[in-house]
Amino acid sequence: MKNLIFSGIQPTGSLHLGNYLGAIKQWTKLQHEHESIFCIVDYHAITVAYDPKKLPGRISDVALDLLACGIDPSKSTLFVQSQVPEHTELGWIFNTLTPIAELERMTQYKDKSKQHKENINAGLFTYPVLQAADVLLYKANLIPVGEDQVQHVELMRVIAKKFNKTFGKLFPEPKPLLTEQARVMSLADPAKKMSKSLGEKHYIALADSDEVIKKKVRSAVTATSHGDTSPGVENLFAILEALGGEALVKELKAQHKKGSLQYSELKDVVANTIISHLSPIRERRAELEKERERVGEILIEGAKTAQKIARDTMEEVRKKIGVR
Ligand code: AMP
Ligand code: TRP
Repeated sequence: MKNLIFSGIQPTGSLHLGNYLGAIKQWTKLQHEHESIFCIVDYHAITVAYDPKKLPGRISDVALDLLACGIDPSKSTLFVQSQVPEHTELGWIFNTLTPIAELERMTQYKDKSKQHKENINAGLFTYPVLQAADVLLYKANLIPVGEDQVQHVELMRVIAKKFNKTFGKLFPEPKPLLTEQARVMSLADPAKKMSKSLGEKHYIALADSDEVIKKKVRSAVTATSHGDTSPGVENLFAILEALGGEALVKELKAQHKKGSLQYSELKDVVANTIISHLSPIRERRAELEKERERVGEILIEGAKTAQKIARDTMEEVRKKIGVR
């Protein structure tokens, strides 16, 4: 079977190092090896409170970030979810196949409904159903994501199986593709995953200046009251390793074992390595920023390509479920 890659990202502001190491870095590689489709999932983003005036800017910001990271529109398809309405149509059909009990198990739903107590809406609950539609609309089988999304990919398999069993075989059962660094932790609270919602000092944005990166890494939590086995130090080592400093990690770990490693020294190495990776991305982004209209055109082209596939799948789906 031919592999088809699909992944999505929410337009919730600029990207951070967790998004980059957990997902996007591998997207840029995969696009050269397989047919690939990447989607900015605006209909997922509206399941939590947001400012409609800011959303268009956020969508083009994420697109700019992705292009700056190396997503190449001549190699892969990049588009915005709401521009291909077949996603929500298939999502509705999948809603009728998804057991509520499966959705109640979803960790992301449980976390988000704790975070947004005032707005626990049905869309937040069926979020993973729309996500299954995103992927299965293209009959994609490999889904490069961070670890937090594995449970959602498992649900896609449940939904695909149920559809195939009920109406006849149509969909593949997708599998997650994880990077080695599928869970980057927060700098300020290494027990939690790096995320924008925790606040500025917890994450490194791809757009952060060299100075800000240095400052954030320097104030990263390292030692804990538990002594040696500090998740903060592990996280710094993991970031370094993911950015290609394997030999360096070995050497620094050996020093750490002997007790001769200064955390300030480790932090300097980590900060400099991050800077050397992110500054070219930041420069490319500044260049792309000058031609924002071009970004809009890329997204429209992408939506056209995606919609061709989506239309064909929906024709098959409508026939199979008996509405045609
Ligand atoms: P989101 O920003 O939630 O749409 O996430 C986009 C992608 O980045 C998904 O594949 C996530 O799994 C991944 N991701 C988000 N945060 C992290 C993190 N701290 N570590 C690794 N991957 C992450
Ligand atoms: N839920 C994913 C996240 O929060 C984003 C997403 C939406 C996605 N649709 C997808 C990821 C389809 C992979 C495939 O990161």
